[in-house]
Amino acid sequence: MDFELRATEQSDYDTIATWIEDAVSCSRWAGPRVPFPFSARELPELLSVKGGSSYSLSDSDNSCIGFGQFWVVRQGTVHLGRIIISPEARGVGAGRLLCKKLLAKAMQETGAAMVTLRVYRDNMPALSLYSSLGFSVVESESTGDLLLMSTSNAE
Ligand SMILES: CC(C)(COP(=O)(O)OP(=O)(O)OC[C@H]1O[C@@H](n2cnc3c(N)ncnc32)[C@H](O)[C@@H]1OP(=O)(O)O)[C@@H](O)C(=O)NCCC(=O)NCCS
Repeated sequence: MDFELRATEQSDYDTIATWIEDAVSCSRWAGPRVPFPFSARELPELLSVKGGSSYSLSDSDNSCIGFGQFWVVRQGTVHLGRIIISPEARGVGAGRLLCKKLLAKAMQETGAAMVTLRVYRDNMPALSLYSSLGFSVVESESTGDLLLMSTSNAE
């Protein structure tokens, strides 16, 4: 697979907007701050996080097939968010590749040693992926719906 992590362009946001089918998938991907429906033009602003960085996973044609963000939550800890793979590209390893590249980029750019993320308890594909990458659930910082996961034990 000839995939690359690169800066996100407006045309990528236009593509990503077509992947979000309904309010439930929107909320699972982006959390409560992004309403559904939304305009692709507004997506960069809706997804903006202070001090955050956004990256696209592109294929050999430079088409966007995935997206993710990270931002520093406190010194030494960087948080991954809004991870998504195109529905057509799921199930063949692109999500794992995106996460590995995003993790490496986040740690390299921020110098953080710990990485966290949030995932809905019933989002089995994402939960299984993050567990296999070494993330563990931090129950003390999780809710009935939403899990906080960390690369090291933050209990
Ligand atoms: C979560 C997501 C990024 C995974 O991407 P993907 O490209 O399908 O994942 P991969 O093909 O790389 O699979 C990696 C692992 O994910 C898990 N996984 C993927 N699809 C799965 C499914 N349908 N059921 C259970 N586990 C699954 C498996 O652990 C898999 O590892 P394996 O192949 O060794 O079994 C993708 O499903 C997605 O974009 N979902 C919608 C947005 C979303 O929910 N984002 C997460 C926000 S926290």
